[in-house]
Amino acid sequence: MKINDKPYRTIWLDENNPSLVKIIDQRLLPHQFVVEELRTVEDCATAIRDMHVRGAGLIGAAAGFGMYLAQLQSPPDDADYLRQAAELLIATRPTARNLAWAVNRMQQAVYEESTPAARERRALTEARKIADEDAEYCRRLGEHGLEIIKDISRRKQGPVNILTHCNAGWLAFVDYGSATAPIYAAQKAGIDLHVWVDETRPWLQGSRLTAWELGQQGVPHTLIADNTGGHLMQHGMVDLIIVGTDRTTRCGDVANKIGTYLKALAAHDNGVPFYVALPSSTFDWQICDGLAEIPIEERSDTEIRYISGALDNGETGRVAIAPPHTRGANYGFDVTPARLISGLITERGICGANEKEITRLFPPEVR
Ligand code: MRU
Repeated sequence: MKINDKPYRTIWLDENNPSLVKIIDQRLLPHQFVVEELRTVEDCATAIRDMHVRGAGLIGAAAGFGMYLAQLQSPPDDADYLRQAAELLIATRPTARNLAWAVNRMQQAVYEESTPAARERRALTEARKIADEDAEYCRRLGEHGLEIIKDISRRKQGPVNILTHCNAGWLAFVDYGSATAPIYAAQKAGIDLHVWVDETRPWLQGSRLTAWELGQQGVPHTLIADNTGGHLMQHGMVDLIIVGTDRTTRCGDVANKIGTYLKALAAHDNGVPFYVALPSSTFDWQICDGLAEIPIEERSDTEIRYISGALDNGETGRVAIAPPHTRGANYGFDVTPARLISGLITERGICGANEKEITRLFPPEVR
């Protein structure tokens, strides 16, 4: 996608030095645009853990490149080096499935080769493939999701109002995004649309990232406080909700940014279609019951007790928003049960959020 009209991906290799991984440091957006260089697997682990990069698809891609850097760093006689690197990366963030999926895929590929040189080449190819596939699958799911927006637009006057939560935009993937891909496809198709952007406390992925990337692409949007969606739905001001997901079970339960479940409940009560967009790397085929089986990340309560942003003097800073000794609980994600989901938008098409329909699109041999 574009930043000031220049095309970017969220992660790439330096064109003159393929052992240098580059990312956009998302902690600083929208106030500063800074490209950061990652040279080691430890750099990649820090970038994922501390959210320089975030979003399910992007942390999968970053983990892929992290494993590639680990292979470059690996001493020739240390058979355990790559396994330790894998553990380091997987431990950074527990909820998004794409992370462990990418690490396992890298390990499998590398272990098929026997010499260090062949392993390095293979690691580079596989990491690039993971990133390219992420972008391509998001592009394809955008085409499928476009049909839902087209259908609504045919039936109503004025813009299609779409609500989204958090940032499942191109910043959360390698390109296009998951929830935003149908929106960008609809914009390209000339459909009149408008996006309600949940601010997404506490990390503010909505106000800092989604609002910024929609603005960069020229998509009309309005920022709302997290609790506004229910009111808008009661007044017919939301035609469709599209969110992303960090882990989806084979039975259709979805873990996404904290607060998603409440949006799904309000959507159900108001008859608003609630869709979840995902590339298949987000499926966890091993589990069915999302509430019981998806690990939910808990982060520092500093993220709840302080808020960061640009000060009036143009500098960035943070302010306390709670009494000094008040403790906070900071759950990163919640689970939306399949019964509240109208459909899953994937790179292979749209299906119901249930095991039978998911299996029809993704039979065991393609998983
Ligand atoms: O904590 P984050 O920012 O890594 O959370 C991920 C998300 O942005 C959301 O949960 C998103 O909706 C799904 S990730 C594509």
